[in-house]
Amino acid sequence: MTAALQVEKLNRSFGALAVTRDVDLVLERGARHALIGPNGAGKTTLVNLITGVLRPNSGRVLLNGDDITTVNQAERARRGLARTFQINQLFRGLSVLENICMAIGERDGENNNLWRPAGAKPSVIEEALDQLESLKLVDDALKLVKELPYGRQRLVEIAIALSQKPRVLLLDEPAAGVPSSESHLILDVVAALDPDIAVLIIEHDMDVVFRFAKEITVLVQGAVFTHGTPQQIMADEQVRAVYLGQEGLSGGAHHG
Ligand SMILES: Nc1ncnc2c1ncn2[C@@H]1O[C@H](COP(=O)(O)OP(=O)(O)OP(=O)(O)O)[C@@H](O)[C@H]1O
Ligand SMILES: [Mg+2]
Repeated sequence: MTAALQVEKLNRSFGALAVTRDVDLVLERGARHALIGPNGAGKTTLVNLITGVLRPNSGRVLLNGDDITTVNQAERARRGLARTFQINQLFRGLSVLENICMAIGERDGENNNLWRPAGAKPSVIEEALDQLESLKLVDDALKLVKELPYGRQRLVEIAIALSQKPRVLLLDEPAAGVPSSESHLILDVVAALDPDIAVLIIEHDMDVVFRFAKEITVLVQGAVFTHGTPQQIMADEQVRAVYLGQEGLSGGAHHG
């Protein structure tokens, strides 16, 4: 079976600093893969390389078997690669519905003012409302993004990524900065994602990682330190030593 996403021997440096070192990563269709590692390990950089924000110095990125290493970001998105950012990147002064309609318009290559609900095609509005409904966001459709609590803003970000109808979804700390009272909203949505979508999640909360992931890759200083099932990662003494610590792991084991 052709992998949904395959990263081969990817390298990237900033000046003398090697931030991505010979990274290999495979996401099969429907993968539930967590990328973990200490702050500064190069997790976000890897997502930026996969999505085309950054170009690698060497190595390849394959989407559904096609080499997309030199393909631009928009074209990667069109081919089914979606991501959310660690930092919120929404049109805060527009409504939730406008944000989603705009994303759908962009996907369909129709972005000449169609994002305005009044001017948007009924089919676009209908699709946007369906998307919001499935994320339990429909009551917020007409609110401005900036009026929403932060957790719901992050949900809108996921809704935008999903409106691209991706085959591969990269989630860079989707619940970062969200108060724990709200983070379940996001984690419920992540848990209920379409099983056909291959998902890579970057997440520091080990309870979340162990609950969600079927596979874990540990990144340390830009390189893959190890890769395995949650059980294998949990039992790995070296992983404990470099990253997780006894406490984090036993927390994951008890709740996971
Ligand atoms: N544009 C850049 N120019 C120079 N150095 C950079 C750049 N982007 C990232 N780095 C460096 O690359 C390293 C990896 O950063 P990255 O943001 O990928 O880590 P991360 O694993 O996502 O960390 P965190 O868990 O804190 O989000 C860090 O040392 C960072 O300072
Ligand atoms: Mg990061």
